[in-house]
Amino acid sequence: MPTKIEKDSLTGKTTTGHEWDGIKELNTPLPRWWLYIFYATIAWSAVWALLYPSFPGFSGHFRGLTGWTQRAAIVEQMTVARAEQAPFLDRIRGASLDEIRHSSELLAYAIAGGRVAFADNCAGCHGSGGQGATGGFPALVDDEWIWGGSLEDIHFTIVHGIRNAQSVEARISQMPVYGGILSRGQINDVAEFVLSLSNRATDQAAARRGEEVYAENCVSCHGERGEGVRAVGGPALNDAIWLYGGTKAEIVAQITNPRMGVMPAWGSRLDAATIKMLAVYVHTLGGGE
Ligand code: HEC
Ligand code: HEC
Repeated sequence: MPTKIEKDSLTGKTTTGHEWDGIKELNTPLPRWWLYIFYATIAWSAVWALLYPSFPGFSGHFRGLTGWTQRAAIVEQMTVARAEQAPFLDRIRGASLDEIRHSSELLAYAIAGGRVAFADNCAGCHGSGGQGATGGFPALVDDEWIWGGSLEDIHFTIVHGIRNAQSVEARISQMPVYGGILSRGQINDVAEFVLSLSNRATDQAAARRGEEVYAENCVSCHGERGEGVRAVGGPALNDAIWLYGGTKAEIVAQITNPRMGVMPAWGSRLDAATIKMLAVYVHTLGGGE
């Protein structure tokens, strides 16, 4: 209930005149400077709300007097970035793979661009650094190549892919399903022989029997000593690098029922300059020939 305004003896301040059960309220207003800044922010927010997208409506929202949108801002930034890149991309488009390789400037640019495109398109299967993944996705950082590791080979593989329906020139090779051709005993023997190619056979008699099965069935695609045959995309079997794992069980599984990994063709998805940069990037990962 309002009472009269009086001066408080302890603080020296006046009261507001409000009192509840004998407790009186001191009049301690906000400092002026604080109040003016507060008013200024309110005014500023009103101006801001008018200039930029702000109030929600039933359909859409108030778009603001400037017409600014985040989307347009990004598009503009990207246009600027593209314009800066254009001269480089044009030069890459016009240069041969070899010219890119031997120009330090283009090479640096291609590796940087290739790294980005690799992360976007290839890392899901080949790993973020090209280290590969079990299940048929080969490492691209080593010097074992199923289809070849020269710039041209890598470029061709990327453009046309492997065992896909998208490119008529896709690299194709088909390991027969030996589950229906060889007996279980023969498959066991030839698997022991495959292990012996990397000195890991545990049953020498089986490995010797398997040598004959291998000579009859496998040499054409995997080579006399398991060194691999690039022309038909037959991977090497005489080293520690495996698409599907190198244990005996995994080797038996592959012989019984080969999996035949698929790689998409990128020629129809990425532009020519990007593919060149990817080929150069993959080539520099460690095993380029
Ligand atoms: C959907 C999965 C997948 C994606 C995505 C993919 N690849 Fe592959 N890639 C494979 C498979 C599977 C193979 C091996 C096929 C085989 O058994 O021969 C392969 C093989 C390759 C090879 C041949 C390796 C060799 O030893 O000869 C190269 C080079 C390659 N990929 C590069 C790329 C690049 C560059 C990209 C991105 C533009 C890419 N790949 C995207 C699955 C993929
Ligand atoms: C017509 C060609 C062809 C013939 C014949 C063939 N292979 Fe293969 N083999 C391949 C191809 C291609 C691959 C790779 C499969 C893939 O990428 O999915 C492969 C993969 C393998 C692998 C897995 C290699 C790895 O790195 O994981 C083994 C093991 C293998 N073959 C063993 C054999 C044996 C043993 C025989 C004979 C009984 C045989 N292959 C006959 C083409 C052939």
